[in-house]
This record gives sequence, structure tokens and C-alpha cells, in this order.
Amino acid sequence: MDLVGQVGDTLTPQDPAERLSKLRVELLPIDLIVQWRRCSKMADFLAGYFEYHFEDRPVAAQVLSTGLNELIENLAKFSANKQKPVSIEINHYGELLTVTTENEAARPQTTALRARLARMATTDPEELFLEQLEHTASSDRAASGLGLINLKKDYGARLAAEIRAVPDDPERFVVSLQLELNVDAIERG
Ligand SMILES: Nc1ncnc2c1ncn2[C@@H]1O[C@H](COP(=O)(O)OP(=O)(O)OP(=O)(O)O)[C@@H](O)[C@H]1O
Ligand SMILES: [Mg+2]
Repeated sequence: MDLVGQVGDTLTPQDPAERLSKLRVELLPIDLIVQWRRCSKMADFLAGYFEYHFEDRPVAAQVLSTGLNELIENLAKFSANKQKPVSIEINHYGELLTVTTENEAARPQTTALRARLARMATTDPEELFLEQLEHTASSDRAASGLGLINLKKDYGARLAAEIRAVPDDPERFVVSLQLELNVDAIERG
């Protein structure tokens, strides 16, 4: 199967002129791995920066931090080269907020991500959640494998990825993962 291309939910096209805020951070996965708490600290910081857009700031910060933490932990875990910079970009448009992460990943992780996003785009998140719970219980994997599914199940997030080839390395791919949240889902918690 060719891994390259777009996969996942259809995201809402955005007009840059409608953008209210943008923040982009670049960091090395190794920093997250040597101090795992940096994942949640970075997630909390970014969530705190964006919470001012919302009426119920504590609820919004909690939702944003949860979503960001999940994507940041994935950057730490699944980046192929832990010393190659990865990025997190958040954009706030009136009704929507998007988080885009970019990292390089090896073929097995990229394949798993592609399969997961394709499945998530066509299957009810509650059903996938139960299916994944059973799968984790019957295998001895440490990770629950529920991170992305939970974002969809709990907050109605849309998730998609653009996967690109890395020149001269057929075993590596650039993964640009995009999470889209409705502002009212962020406010509801
Ligand atoms: N940024 C990424 N780059 C490459 N592969 C990724 C990335 N994020 C996720 N994946 C792949 O998609 C799979 C599903 O990700 P998900 O976050 O749902 O589960 P997990 O991280 O394995 O477990 P958990 O989030 O419950 O700890 C991962 O196991 C990994 O193979
Ligand atoms: Mg995860």
C-alpha cells in the first residue's frame, strides 16, 4: 500500500483572513523523552494561551490541554529521529480551532496511523473505543491505543493526516496531523 497522501476526516477549509490567533512551537522530541512532564507542561502552556477566547476559561483550558497533550506525547513517542525538530501549530478561527503537528516517522508507525485514521473516519468512535479496549486487554501492550479515538469520542474532534515521502529515505515519512475542534465543543468540555 502506498502510504503517501491524505487520510482521515474531511476538514473544513479555512480562510486565513478569518484567523483570530496563531501560535507555532518547534521542539526536539528528545527533550520530551528525558523529561516526560514537559509534554503536559507544554500542553498546559498552549492551552492557557488560547483559553482567553472562551467564556468558561477553566473548561476550555482543560479540553485544549487534554487534546494537545495527546498529540505532543505522540510526537515524543513516534518521531523516528528524536533529535530532529517537530512542530505544533495552533490556529483559532471564529468557530473552529485547529492543531497541526508535524514529525517524521518510520514506516510501521506511519502505517498504523494511516490505518487508524482511515478506520476512525468511517466508524462510530464509541464502537472503536470498545473494540480497542478489548484489543488492549487481550494483548500486553503498555499503551492503550485510545489517544486519538478518545479525542473524537469525547470532543467530536475531526482528525486527518497528510503523509509525504522523505527524499532519499523510503522508510521515513513526514506526518502532518491535523486536529479540528468546534469552539462550542471546547466550551462544553
Ligand atoms: N505523530 C505521529 N507520527 C507517527 N505515527 C503516529 C503519530 N501519532 C500516532 N501515530 C500512530 O497511530 C497510533 C495510534 O495513536 P494513539 O495516540 O491513538 O495511540 P497510542 O499513542 O499508541 O496509545 P495512547 O495514546 O493510548 O497512549 C500509534 O500507535 C502510532 O502507531
Ligand atoms: Mg497516543
